[in-house]
Parts: sequence; structure tokens; C-alpha cells
Amino acid sequence: MAYEHLIVTIEEPIAVVTLNRPKSLNALSQAVMGELATALEACDGDPRVRCAVLWGGPRVFAAGADIREFAEQSPGDMIRSYRFLEWERIRRVATPVIAAVSGYALGGGCELAMACDIIIAAETAQFGQPEIQLGVMPGAGGTQRLTRAIGKSRAMEMILTGRSISAQEALAAGLVARVVPVELCLDEAKALAREIASRAPLAVRAAKEAVLQAFETPLAAGVLFERRCFHMLFGTADAAEGIHAFVEKRPAKWTGR
Ligand code: CAA
Repeated sequence: MAYEHLIVTIEEPIAVVTLNRPKSLNALSQAVMGELATALEACDGDPRVRCAVLWGGPRVFAAGADIREFAEQSPGDMIRSYRFLEWERIRRVATPVIAAVSGYALGGGCELAMACDIIIAAETAQFGQPEIQLGVMPGAGGTQRLTRAIGKSRAMEMILTGRSISAQEALAAGLVARVVPVELCLDEAKALAREIASRAPLAVRAAKEAVLQAFETPLAAGVLFERRCFHMLFGTADAAEGIHAFVEKRPAKWTGR
């Protein structure tokens, strides 16, 4: 499928989705978000793809929602635009998605990175929720995901002032998995994606779903969900293969069944 605002390449077994609106610093217009949701949903249905990398190029990940689309908008206009439907579609993607963040990840850009499963940050990355400086506040999950990722006090500081944090601060706060030189950011994310893609596919999907339950449910319900997934995986051919391969001291061959 051809996209206007994205470049999607399949490098079997991974997909690389690049935000491609450099003139507006990859501002996340509704059209961009629609294409992005479609591209990531397509990964779920593509047997060649087991993990996806999302990035915005070396200069900027995304400078937020497209502020121009907000001009003259009333609450009713915003509600009727179904702006957050695309975000819900992205939230439901089953394929693991790694955000490779280089440069600004602001507002919706920070929220998009946080909606991914793992963030790899270049040394140039800056994370922030500057919406307060526009007289509004985060609207695509920022108040929830940032608070869960870095804790109430630091999230409040960022959201109430609009101040950004550096890649190193984001690492110290637990927002990102690792910080790498900018020229290695995409390659590191791709290498991690290939490593994940080399694992048993059904186990990867179930494990992603179970980790995300930690954000949705009380501990007891989450542990129960995890146990159900764990038991279910014992019915898969890959679990039998993985356990036999370990005992026979040979590499496992996954079939995704
Ligand atoms: N929306 C639309 N256009 C944007 C944009 C955005 N979020 N961010 C940057 N641009 C455009 C600029 O208007 C400019 O376009 P022109 O050349 O046509 O004037 C171009 O991108 C380059 O931007 P700058 O000249 O401003 O570049 P800079 O290097 O001087 O500054 C920046 C970079 C600090 C990121 C600055 O552009 C900026 O502050 N951008 C806005 C960041 C922001 O407030 N994001 C939050 C948006 S609201 C949101 O995301 C809501 C939500 O939760 C869903």
C-alpha cells in the first residue's frame, strides 16, 4: 500500500515505518495518524512481519499533534473529528512496536513513543509534553502513560511546566530502554526488533499482551491473565519444540503454531 506521509519497508522479519513529514517536523496530523494506524495494523496481518520499528528519521521523531489543525476548534469539533480513534487502533496492535526516537518527541510525539512497546533513544532525543504552553494539556494518553513510566512527581513537573527532558534523563527515569549515538539509533532498534522476531511468535504476542495488562488491571487480575496466557502457551507446537530443543541442546525452530 502506498502512503502519503509514511515510508514503510518490510525487511523480513521486521517492518520499518518512517514518519515522513519533515517540513512540519513530522507533526501528527489526523491523516498521518490514520496512515500510521493502518500501517501498524497491516503488520498484524502480514506473516512476514514479527516486530515493527517506528521512527521519524535522524532529526526529529515527531513535534506533536499538528497544531494547525487545532486552530478555531471547539470542543464539539474535536469530539466530532474522532481524533483519538486512530490512537485506539494503534493501542490494539498485537505486533511489538519499537520506537526509535531521535530529536524531538514532543506532545503527541512523546505520547506516540510511549504508545509503542519499547523506546530506544538517540543521544539527541528530547521528550516533553509542552501542551500546557498552548493553553491545553496532553490528550493522547500523556498524563497516564508518562505518570506510569516515570512517576507522579516527575510527570507533574513535565506536564505542568511543559519542560522537556533529555535522553539521559529519560533513561534515568525509566522512560526509555537505552540511549545510543544518533547514527546507531535506527540500527539498534532494528537489531532489537530482529532479536524479538527470532523468538516464538505466539509467546511474544501473549507476553506483550500480558505486560500491557499491568497498565489496565489490578495486580491479582493481571497475574491471573498472565497465568492463563502461560497455560495456553503449553498447548502450542512452539512450546513443545522449545522445551525439547533445550533438552536436546539444539536451537529451536519456531513455526508460530
Ligand atoms: N504542528 C504543526 N507544525 C509544526 C509543529 C506542530 N506540532 N511543530 C513544528 N511545526 C512546523 C513549524 O510551524 C515550522 O513550519 P514552517 O517552516 O512552515 O513555519 C516547521 O515545523 C519547523 O518548525 P520550527 O521552525 O518551529 O523549528 P525549530 O527547530 O525552531 O523548533 C520545536 C522546533 C521546538 C519542536 C518547535 O517547532 C515547537 O515548539 N513545535 C511545537 C511543539 C508542540 O507544542 N507540540 C505539542 C503539540 S499539541 C499535542 O501534541 C496535543 C496532543 O497531546 C495530542
